[in-house]
Amino acid sequence: MKDPLIGLGLESSCDETAAAVVRNGREILSNIISSQVDLHREYYGVVPEIASRAHLETINLIIDRALHEAGVRFGDLDYVAATSRPGLVGSLLIALQSAKVISYAMGIPLVAVNHLEAHLYAPFLEGREPVYPFIGLLVSGGNTVLYHVRGVGDLEVIGRTVDDAAGEAYDKIAKYMNLGYPGGPAIEKLARTAKGRNVVFPKILPEPGDVRFSYSGIKTAVINYLRENPGAEPAEVVFGFQERILELLTRRVFAAARARGTASIVVAGGVAANGRLREMLFEEKRPGEEIIIPSPILCTDNAAMVAGIGYRHVEAGRVDDLAVDVQARA
Ligand code: KG4
Repeated sequence: MKDPLIGLGLESSCDETAAAVVRNGREILSNIISSQVDLHREYYGVVPEIASRAHLETINLIIDRALHEAGVRFGDLDYVAATSRPGLVGSLLIALQSAKVISYAMGIPLVAVNHLEAHLYAPFLEGREPVYPFIGLLVSGGNTVLYHVRGVGDLEVIGRTVDDAAGEAYDKIAKYMNLGYPGGPAIEKLARTAKGRNVVFPKILPEPGDVRFSYSGIKTAVINYLRENPGAEPAEVVFGFQERILELLTRRVFAAARARGTASIVVAGGVAANGRLREMLFEEKRPGEEIIIPSPILCTDNAAMVAGIGYRHVEAGRVDDLAVDVQARA
């Protein structure tokens, strides 16, 4: 294979429009992210129509900036990768169609990338390479999925949420309590100020051997608690809520790793930015086990991870043709 291989990654599956240039699947030359969070704030969640329109308006500019910052031109690109699944269909289309046009016009391979696999690739862009097979937890506003990652393109789902994603639960409780959007950072900050730590919610899905996640029950429990205790201290309530959300994530990753004798655990997605989650994971970790959490900029949606995993697919000879389509689910 040619060396170096320069790839452009594109991402528009949710509310970030992103483009990045990566060399040899490891070295980030540029990583441009345009967040739409301000457009969705008043709705306390991502509005699909607003998201796809904003991606369409922004993507050309973002691609230009990514190329410019990396000091490359379209003619220098060896492949183009875009997220094709999972996500909002109207949003996914913007990056994938742009990638198809670039692939066709420049005569370079196209790679349609699984967004969740891309998230778990983030550590490889920071020189912290987990050894395959590893346990991968992807925990964001749209997804809570636990994987056994055996190799590139070889992921087995161990368990996933049966209702809300963890980040979604944060966002919904923050909305209910008027704490702002996105809810995760607001709740984490407020929870840190809790002193009594005496509001305790039941453990979620406590049966040993259960591999599922569920976050709608705790949401109802919190809302009921607030209705029954109108004078409750908000910091205490969100502390109790957050402990249960994160305890379940921690319990599931270690159970999966220990059941399989897998030493490496990668945790990615917006919720992985949470400091209390990091604390819990490192408290639970035993000697020989390794927890890898990408830096915050690579934890949330970005296109460097898309270009990165795209490289691995090109390397393995797995490229797509122009007929490839978007999928709401992975
Ligand atoms: O990966 P991400 O940027 O993409 C989407 O899924 O949209 O994740 C965003 C999610 C939101 O639900 C947000 O509330 C949550 O990640 N989040 C956090 C924190 N920072 C972001 N959740 C808990 N603690 C945080 N510090």
